[in-house]
Amino acid sequence: MASAPRIIAANTAPEIITEFASDVVVGLSQPGQKELPSKYLYDEVGSGLFDVICLLPEYGLSRAGMRLLQRHSSEIVARLQSPVVVAELGSGSGVKTRLLLEALSRQQRVNYYPIDISLSALNRCQQEIGQMDQVSIVGFERAYLDGLQEVAARRKDGERLLVLFLGSTIGNFDRPAGDQFLREVRAVLQKDDALLLATDLEKPIPQLLSAYDDAAGVTAAFDMNLLARINRELDADFDLSLFKHVARYDQSERRVEMHLQSKAWQRITIRKAGFRFYLREGETIWTESSHKYNPQEVVQMGERTGYRCDGQWFDTEWPFAQNLFFAV
Ligand SMILES: C[S@@+](CC[C@H](N)C(=O)[O-])C[C@H]1O[C@@H](n2cnc3c(N)ncnc32)[C@H](O)[C@@H]1O
Repeated sequence: MASAPRIIAANTAPEIITEFASDVVVGLSQPGQKELPSKYLYDEVGSGLFDVICLLPEYGLSRAGMRLLQRHSSEIVARLQSPVVVAELGSGSGVKTRLLLEALSRQQRVNYYPIDISLSALNRCQQEIGQMDQVSIVGFERAYLDGLQEVAARRKDGERLLVLFLGSTIGNFDRPAGDQFLREVRAVLQKDDALLLATDLEKPIPQLLSAYDDAAGVTAAFDMNLLARINRELDADFDLSLFKHVARYDQSERRVEMHLQSKAWQRITIRKAGFRFYLREGETIWTESSHKYNPQEVVQMGERTGYRCDGQWFDTEWPFAQNLFFAV
């Protein structure tokens, strides 16, 4: 019988508000391009909208990741040294993870630790995974590395760690920061621990742009919710009707960028941060990047940051890769 699911919640709500306020002020005070950290896209509304994005015809990433795990989970699991404890960075709803846990739970009992800053994502993940036989789940409402350190501290002698970083979420980091992040993950791991890293691959620009600016406007709502969240939580006065969601492709950086573009000159006040700023007509706030890769550079990225690549599996319908790394 599956054991009772639990979530270890963040316990510092007033500090989180302060950190949110301070990150917002820093991002909106930039002398050039104003920006907001993409992690704040995921409150209860944002996580719900992201789950809908994953169902959209334009957003092929999620289905590609699913197809790969449907086809190859058994082979991936067979390459791991057991017993394995599973930690997932930014688990979201855990819908894809279920496929891998099913394969793993056929050979051992599994302790699964989803780590996500969004409590509502963790609740969804519990609904998805919590009733699986042979799987125990304890969620951590934490930032990636804080959560991973807590999971690593729970491992017992002889247990291997499998870290999942699915959905091509690594693409939210620019390339140098992505390398740095993989090194920081490696520093928590022991030799021969595994990292399953999903990466969205380069493809025609129109296809990429529509994945981040769909016809039904769900991604626009997801992006716009960041301003609504600042209004709700920090008592700000963003007028959402004065913004437009824009997706752009930067060819030199090979990334899709999401921006919120001001339709007019405007003044915005964020009362809980004691901050006022101005936007010109046409000026944008940069809210998210999604870097795109080629398969060889993913192997090199792993090799530079303390891993060897043991296998890559590709989806041909929507070019996408699952990459299995082992810590060296
Ligand atoms: C692009 S979604 C991917 C969700 C899921 N892994 C998938 O493949 O569908 C990114 C997830 O990471 C979480 N997240 C974003 N930044 C985070 C951070 N710094 N620490 C922990 N979780 C984070 C979000 O709340 C969200 O659930």
